[in-house]
Amino acid sequence: MSDFKRTLITSALPYANGPVHIGHLAGVYVPADIYARYLRLKGEEVLFIGGSDEHGVPITLKAKKEGTTPQAIVDKYHGMIKDSFEKFGISFDVYSRTSAKVHHETASEIFKTIYDKGGFTEQTTEQFFDEEANQFLADRYITGTCPKCGFEKAYGDQCESCGTSLNATDLINPKSMLSGNVPVMKETKHWYLPLDQYEPWLKEWILEGHREWKPNVYGQCKSWIDGGLNPRAVTRDLDWGIPVPVAGADGKVLYVWFDAPIGYISATKELTPEWEKYWKDPETRLLHFIGKDNIVFHCIIFPVILKAEGSYILPDNVPANEFLNLEGDKISTSRNWAVWLHEYLEEFPGKEDVLKYTLTANAPETKDNDFTWKDFQSRNNSELVAILGNFVNRVLVLTNKYYGGVVPVAGKLELRDEEALATLVQLKSDIEKALDTFHFREALRLTMEMARLGNKYLADMEPWILVKTDPERVKTILHICLQITANLTIAFEPFLPYTMNKLRFFLNLEKLQWSELGRRDLLVAGDTVNTPELLFEKIEDDAIQRQVDKLLATKKSNELEQATLAPAKSHIEYDDFAKMDIRTGTIVAAEKVAKTKKLMKLTINTGIDQRTVVSGIAEHYEPEQVIGQRVSILVNLAPKNLKGIESQGMILMAESKEGRLVFVVPGEEINDGAEIK
Ligand code: 2FM
Ligand code: ZN
Repeated sequence: MSDFKRTLITSALPYANGPVHIGHLAGVYVPADIYARYLRLKGEEVLFIGGSDEHGVPITLKAKKEGTTPQAIVDKYHGMIKDSFEKFGISFDVYSRTSAKVHHETASEIFKTIYDKGGFTEQTTEQFFDEEANQFLADRYITGTCPKCGFEKAYGDQCESCGTSLNATDLINPKSMLSGNVPVMKETKHWYLPLDQYEPWLKEWILEGHREWKPNVYGQCKSWIDGGLNPRAVTRDLDWGIPVPVAGADGKVLYVWFDAPIGYISATKELTPEWEKYWKDPETRLLHFIGKDNIVFHCIIFPVILKAEGSYILPDNVPANEFLNLEGDKISTSRNWAVWLHEYLEEFPGKEDVLKYTLTANAPETKDNDFTWKDFQSRNNSELVAILGNFVNRVLVLTNKYYGGVVPVAGKLELRDEEALATLVQLKSDIEKALDTFHFREALRLTMEMARLGNKYLADMEPWILVKTDPERVKTILHICLQITANLTIAFEPFLPYTMNKLRFFLNLEKLQWSELGRRDLLVAGDTVNTPELLFEKIEDDAIQRQVDKLLATKKSNELEQATLAPAKSHIEYDDFAKMDIRTGTIVAAEKVAKTKKLMKLTINTGIDQRTVVSGIAEHYEPEQVIGQRVSILVNLAPKNLKGIESQGMILMAESKEGRLVFVVPGEEINDGAEIK
């Protein structure tokens, strides 16, 4: 802290296009919350900012998918996300949203200030445009064939099959997702942040000035900067977002990554009239907690925005995490491969701290990590229950049993007692070092050491045996155990806040300050403690199996979906459908078309007439198999000449996922010539 008076902690604003899952919690909100709670315990001035990111293509796409408006989407998911965070005890001082008026104003003002200073460049480029929808197309709104792997449903920004990141113009046969049409190129003007002009400054500020940043963060910045920075468009042609606040920008909005981080500023404004103290005073230490996919935006683009504006401080550190996987697979919203927080809260009520503990113990701090239900169970059963819960419970039960719940007087301390108490002090300093450098996983491990120490001390001293021969010594032992227990309420507070609340109640203790950690007189002889309840319950195999089964079911249904289904085609009008004249008919004659593999010449009784249809079924059926077969036939398809034969219609076939062709016929016997409509 040294040179700073206060700390402003921000946590990435999740897109309000879906609920939040364990990956969000592990990567961003749990570490940010631990740090905020730790600083508060130290009595420091700290604000912890959160909110929902409600603009951009992720929102409009979700609205399209759910057949509703972007506003309805953000209202729904902002509510759900906020609720999950509250229930998990993420201790934001404010949880705002980027649709708030104060945010629209703040983002517009910042854009305007930079614009007025001449801080943007303008460029006109050609971009994909859907003429039918009368709209420019964001990359995510274009699909086509991946030039790398041939996958036919790649997006304009990425191929989800081979993972290559793409430009929309790279796609073969690009199509608009709005109309299904081939988009055209059309000129459009946008405002760009000239990142290239900031290269020398970024080199000095980050590469020279912030060598202490985590290696994953520093490394990403270095490779971006060394690779050369290009001007970046900060406006978009979209009808959802903050209108670009300058003349000649009709139909354009701020790029979501321009406005979202400004959301931290707006949320602070919403919280306190003193917001400038947090954003403009160099004695404020600004920290951004984020996931690794957000590094470039928080370390390069947002600082350049702030620098261009000119009156704001810059982040002092950006402790970004890597990703959390789930049972060996990447967490994915679209594949429903996630543990959703709102579902967890229903399925494991009262176990919020257990999940936070597991996610911290296994945090993806230096590399991607895996969450497994087995690990969750074993962290709960063999650490929380068997060490922390067991120690606390035994101490309180014995105190109640031997002394009616009154803290006994300690006699003269023996070497073992002194050693235990000294270890507490050493652990405090080790935990601090880990927390101060954002090593939360290590900090939690050391905190658990404190409980382990208590557990071992109690087991070694065996007061339940000694009580028969040396009751005075037992008083000292339990006195020490109670001091350790009281210390645990401080050390675990940042990690297990709900549980420590309970424990403080058992001990009749107020919330203590971090500075008191390590003391041997947190309780004094004569204080009373309450009858305890268990701090943690064992999690049984069947509860874990239910979760594993749920994921297996998801995996199966994903595989099925992937293997079979083509995406739905875009809408047509009823009139388009009504133009088709489809009838029931019967094949009365059939022969293979010479010199072709696939074609068969069919004579079909359509009720109206007998006509010839050339059909591509010869690889699937022999002529004698299909004579007498009932069919559905499109009779008003314009005739077409195939291998010298005029084909007067088309029969309807369904194609199985293995490519087998099956006749589509009415479920019941019906005369030839019946209309299908
Ligand atoms: O990646 C995301 O989910 C973004 N919504 C994060 C935004 S962080 C900040 F800039 F608001
Ligand atoms: Zn590909």
